[in-house]
Amino acid sequence: MTISASSAPVNVASAILYGQPAPDLITPPPGAVQVSPLVPGSTDLVTLADQSVDHAVVLAPPGTQERDYVLAQVLRVLKPGGDLWVLAPKSRGGARLRKALEQFGCQVTEDARRHHRFCHLRRPESLRDLAPVLAAGAPRRLSDLGLWTQPGVFSWDRLDPGSALLLEEMPTFTGTGADLGGGIGILASRVLASPAVQSLWLVELDRRALDCARRNLDDPRVQFLWQDVRQPDLALKDLDFVAMNPPFHDGGTEDRSLGAAFIRAAAAMLRRGGVCWITANRHLPYEAPLSDAFAQVTLKADRGGYKVYEARK
Ligand SMILES: C[S@@+](CC[C@H](N)C(=O)[O-])C[C@H]1O[C@@H](n2cnc3c(N)ncnc32)[C@H](O)[C@@H]1O
Repeated sequence: MTISASSAPVNVASAILYGQPAPDLITPPPGAVQVSPLVPGSTDLVTLADQSVDHAVVLAPPGTQERDYVLAQVLRVLKPGGDLWVLAPKSRGGARLRKALEQFGCQVTEDARRHHRFCHLRRPESLRDLAPVLAAGAPRRLSDLGLWTQPGVFSWDRLDPGSALLLEEMPTFTGTGADLGGGIGILASRVLASPAVQSLWLVELDRRALDCARRNLDDPRVQFLWQDVRQPDLALKDLDFVAMNPPFHDGGTEDRSLGAAFIRAAAAMLRRGGVCWITANRHLPYEAPLSDAFAQVTLKADRGGYKVYEARK
């Protein structure tokens, strides 16, 4: 079966790599092109032509729908006979990898080491059930949210309670600001409702979320940055405000340092007197990094398991 990519399929790679497996786990094929949406600058798998790739290595994402979509896309672009390695930590979907690949009619050999499962196969001439999985994992507009979204992006089919609390508490902003880890643009959409906002940077690591945000925020005041907020080369400075619901997971594992890094980044890009509105799970210890980075920190709300702070530089 051949499924065409949605637009302008291209032959750019004989080998692809999805994700960033630790070097001691697997050696990617030489010259492999990165196709994970979480690596800024990577190639979008969807743009690759059917049956154009010889080798693929995939560090499978943990979510079932997202993982199956990625596997279906990779099988779509592999040539018949093409070589595929898929791995995942045992505790984050590794135990289900083999079944996930067999649903497409693949014959899989499986191995386990260093707390990971490894599946290897050669892409069969014909595949089954690719089309429904590709459709189920694709971007779509959800009518109840009124927004474009995609399985795999943060809180893809519901409003996150932390974001909901920030939306309730957030003031009307003025001037130039940023939404750090802006996702599909839920906070940005509210920020832009104020005509006093002159411009807004939406900074986001996940290309899929950013693509949805572009569709959700049809507003010339927004600039989209596909970038890691932790990179110090952000050109943002002297901002009047930042609004954010920082991530606290990296690759499926809780990482509290991420939120602290977002707080430092927000402080660095604000002007003196500028404000950062931040929401977080109430168990996350953000008081210390907030007090270290800002002159004045005020708790604005604490309910439903979430907190909202206003921090002034
Ligand atoms: C808790 S979500 C908030 C999303 C959105 N602002 C909302 O309120 O629904 C955090 C977002 O940060 C993004 N993210 C994670 N790590 C990042 C990083 N290092 N740099 C930029 N964005 C990141 C995630 O992809 C996710 O969209």
